[in-house]
Amino acid sequence: MTALRIFEWPSKVLEVPAQEVVLFDNALRAFVADMHDTMKETAGIGLAANQVGDLRRIVTIEIPSVRNDKSEKSATEEPKWWHNKRFTFINPVVTNSEGTDRWQEGCLSFPDIFDFVERASEVWVKAFDENGKEFEVHADGLFAVCLQHEIDHINGIVFFKRMSKLKSDRIKAKMLKRGNIHVDA
Ligand code: NI
Repeated sequence: MTALRIFEWPSKVLEVPAQEVVLFDNALRAFVADMHDTMKETAGIGLAANQVGDLRRIVTIEIPSVRNDKSEKSATEEPKWWHNKRFTFINPVVTNSEGTDRWQEGCLSFPDIFDFVERASEVWVKAFDENGKEFEVHADGLFAVCLQHEIDHINGIVFFKRMSKLKSDRIKAKMLKRGNIHVDA
């Protein structure tokens, strides 16, 4: 079990677009396993490689059916096929999206900050798993929200970029006031 260090905003690595993975080797699979361990350790439901200081297009997701977080919808959400499943999305591409929905989102790179973001309510995503096998998912609910949030991360987009200027200024001020000691050079 190796939990990696989470980079918090304003670490620069969070705002740099990540590069395509070209080599699906044992080192990649070990890194993906570490990302899943990191989510377990931090009780996160999604993680992008940028958040652990790595600029490859890798996203891990695992959403428990029962959660204890601040999302007001978590208590009412029905069991879905994607609950309690370990997903690894490498080089993910959104091929289609439908509808809009608003969820209160959090982010491991912004501890204790939660706010509403509007996103597509359904997305179709193509990606490769850690063995280089291509797959496609049709995501709805929190899975769709999480996928869009994490794909934003690998494009160097943090969640306040999806909010109003007022809200994002408030979040930035809060983070800067904390005197983040995890900022990379
Ligand atoms: Ni995040």
